Amino acid sequence: MGYQPERRDLLEIVVRAAREAAGVIRAAAPRARNLDWRSKGPTDFVSEVDIAAEECILSIAARELPGASILAEESAATTPPERVARGLALVIDPLDGTTNFLHGYPAYAVSIGVLLDGEPVAAVVYNVAGDEIFTATAGGGAFMNGVPIRVSTIVDPQRALIGTGYPFKDPTDIPPYLAQLSRVMAQVSGVRWPGAASLDLASVASGRFDAFWENLLSPWDFAAGMLLVRESGGLATTITGSPLRGVARSSVLVGNPAMHAWLRQALQQSQLTDP
Ligand code: IPD
Ligand code: CA
Ligand code: CA
Repeated sequence: MGYQPERRDLLEIVVRAAREAAGVIRAAAPRARNLDWRSKGPTDFVSEVDIAAEECILSIAARELPGASILAEESAATTPPERVARGLALVIDPLDGTTNFLHGYPAYAVSIGVLLDGEPVAAVVYNVAGDEIFTATAGGGAFMNGVPIRVSTIVDPQRALIGTGYPFKDPTDIPPYLAQLSRVMAQVSGVRWPGAASLDLASVASGRFDAFWENLLSPWDFAAGMLLVRESGGLATTITGSPLRGVARSSVLVGNPAMHAWLRQALQQSQLTDP
């Protein structure tokens, strides 16, 4: 294998890229409601800010990590998926929570996961409105603004706050999701639905949420967040407990070990399987 930068160096590069992209997003925030949105699907939008933030990250990646494969949301169609599972790869969501951003709702982020042979080795999730930088390296722990973070210690579902995301792309996915949701809602302290999956995973890593699930996410939504969760003592799998891979679309179930186990069982009883 050729020269590979150290994990700390990889992290430093992607943190710099995330900060620059966050600058692009922050500068555009005051005019978010007047931006031109293009529809990717009936309820799925992309703005010029998503594109500009992605270009910013890609130019840093091309300069600093010229050998790395890139899987970035707004240009993903040009990436052969099998390349991402080999060698060094960056999996990039330049603006996670676009709908929130376009409405001025302060929950959106830049998410960059660094994979080596398909496994996450470094990660950054930048909460732009909250100015919180979540980082992790494999084996090196997880941090928020440089301070170590851990998953929560809650083991009783009645005390748990659970995050989720709903299936907004295909209306036929809604009824089975509602079956899951009602089962979970009936047993926990609260359910939250903030609308930026990378931040939801960061919320589990930092103990704000005790667990989170979503039935279908793209790799750029969770490639970084899954490492944050693992490095803060949590578990990150599909909803049936299979290993999560940051290279393909998947369901996602994360949590502290006790709440991960509980939520996995609660979701199983609602009969949904991995996509
Ligand atoms: C979306 C957000 C949302 C999740 C969706 C994602 P986008 O990403 O992460 O929370 O529910 O599944 O597609 O489109 O805002 O980058
Ligand atoms: Ca996203
Ligand atoms: Ca996005």
